[in-house]
Amino acid sequence: MDETITSVLDEQRKFEPPHDAGANIPSFAAYRQWCRRFAEDADGTWRELAREHLQWQKPFTRVLNREHPPFFTWFEDGCLNVSENCLDRHVADGNGERTAIIWEGEPGDVRRISYRELLSEVCRAANALRQLGIEAGDRVVIYMPMIPEAAVAMLACTRIGAVHSVVFGAFSAQALRDRIEDAEAKLVITADGGWRRGAVHALKARVDQALYEGGRSVRHVLVVRRGGNEIDWQQGRDIDWQQALQVEPDACTPAMLGAEHPLFILYTSGSTGKPKGILHTTGGYLLWARLTMLWTFDFRPQQDVFWCTADIGWITGHTYSVYGPLACGGTTLMYEGVPTYPDAGRLWRICQDHRVSIFYTAPTAIRALIKAGDEWPRRYDLSSLRVLGTVGEPINPEAWMWYYTVIGRRRCPIVDTWWQTETGGHMIAPMPFATPTKPGSATLPLPGIDADVVDGNGLSIREGGGLLVIRQPWPSMLRGIWGDEQRYVDTYWRKFDGRYYFAGDGARRDEDGYCWIMGRVDDVLNVSGHRLGTMEIESALVSHAAVAEAAVVGRPDDLKGEAICAFVVLKAEASEALKQQLREHVAGEIGAIAKPDDIRFAEALPKTRSGKIMRRLLRDIAAGKRIAQDISTLEDSAVVSSLLSGEH
Ligand code: WTA
Repeated sequence: MDETITSVLDEQRKFEPPHDAGANIPSFAAYRQWCRRFAEDADGTWRELAREHLQWQKPFTRVLNREHPPFFTWFEDGCLNVSENCLDRHVADGNGERTAIIWEGEPGDVRRISYRELLSEVCRAANALRQLGIEAGDRVVIYMPMIPEAAVAMLACTRIGAVHSVVFGAFSAQALRDRIEDAEAKLVITADGGWRRGAVHALKARVDQALYEGGRSVRHVLVVRRGGNEIDWQQGRDIDWQQALQVEPDACTPAMLGAEHPLFILYTSGSTGKPKGILHTTGGYLLWARLTMLWTFDFRPQQDVFWCTADIGWITGHTYSVYGPLACGGTTLMYEGVPTYPDAGRLWRICQDHRVSIFYTAPTAIRALIKAGDEWPRRYDLSSLRVLGTVGEPINPEAWMWYYTVIGRRRCPIVDTWWQTETGGHMIAPMPFATPTKPGSATLPLPGIDADVVDGNGLSIREGGGLLVIRQPWPSMLRGIWGDEQRYVDTYWRKFDGRYYFAGDGARRDEDGYCWIMGRVDDVLNVSGHRLGTMEIESALVSHAAVAEAAVVGRPDDLKGEAICAFVVLKAEASEALKQQLREHVAGEIGAIAKPDDIRFAEALPKTRSGKIMRRLLRDIAAGKRIAQDISTLEDSAVVSSLLSGEH
């Protein structure tokens, strides 16, 4: 990462945006004007946008309620329904035959679903949920592959006011159980399996495992058949999705829900303890999902085919595979499998075959495709592309330039979007036809977003490095952590005495006011754009009988951004076989994405006299850096010497 940081600091290139008079924000002046409108009258501007962009069942009168900071509410006395905004509204506008979802399965099967069809399917599913006793406010866990039924399940929840919590399909049974229990879910919606790398991976079996010992709140499991693999049906508990939907009518009145009705919980990693359930609500979230589609991607629903490659198990999949594009009435593409199956041309072939015009992916995917060679994208007709986006981790300028030249053929603007599970939607990003871009910079905050770079005391830093904060509430901000109000206050607001939202990222601002995100300043790792807490991996390790103590740190990695490095003190004898066992153990506790890349056995962990593990030092050791720092405060400096000398 050192090299990346140096190259980012030296980066001087600047690219003017292409001109397009038909763009939603067609010039830098237009962008500035939006910012000015918010500066002059934020509430009034939000009011107007919320009225114009959402369909309300009952209009709101109050925009932002600041009475109980940091618990802010938006449009609180208004009522609306997300599925109605994403479906009925477009059918009523005469766009029922427009394609809502283009789906491609990994084996190559394709489905195109119109808005009218999607609405029927969602209504049937919503009715089926009601039949199973699901009511407004009940939690439903969705553990699915990337198939259209996943989006149908999400929208069906919103139709009746159930709160969904999507769990990434590659998470382990244990991780699934933790989430089911924390959310006290009544229902799990899953599939027999899904395709990945040419084979079917079983999902239902993991649900069975999760519910074997725990998850007592779950009454039913709805199972979509996709993989064709064997399933072990539990009488009375398990229900076949297709059969359940078949008998239901294809109409279902959308529930009238308050703007602050909980929409979904999405678990994400923090620096301490178990993953936290980030709570988003109805009105504000949907407004920002729609606006950022229109602004950051210049989405034009009548003509664009939008493809966000993220799995719906992550916030990016929620906001930009499902809610954003559908709230706009446009076409979203979903792909089931891995990007390099059967070969490294898969993504580009999909772009060609379905005439994808806006493409959004993570820097890790871009770096992997660079490695595969330029011949892959060259083989395909990519002329339909007009905007390219990245998300999830800092993009190194080299990868940015490749994306820009080889994929975008220097025609397509690149939008590097900084945001988080907590922010619901984009916070810092260029407007594709307005903002000049610099490779590696997320550029400037979106209109309405008061982002700043500050020092440890909260003082704004005009030019230089500091901490990224948001100074004013925004509609799609998280409303809290499920079941833990105090943790919400402590994690995001305590750092600056309740004045600002603290994102947990470091950033540098350059002479043009552009933001360069430098990565997490807490104990959260970003591995291939996926967030993982070091503590989570440490607890997984120490839950193994052979482990006495463990410390996990990140190490720079050219492909994944960060690799996971674990220092482990054993109770048992060290061996290569044990290393492998520990890796598998972590995969079983959390999921394969959390498997440590390096495991180093140590006699002891370096600690300060007060007993704190010296993570900074471990990070340096993991990165193979020379240790410059003073180690005299260590309890036992011999520990460090042994870590340094020993190639464990
Ligand atoms: C990082 C993903 C640099 C950042 C949407 C943030 C980024 C965390 C960028 C959130 C970007 C996200 N440039 N870093 N464009 N986008 N990050 O919650 O550290 O999975 O705090 O949300 O990813 O990860 P999360």
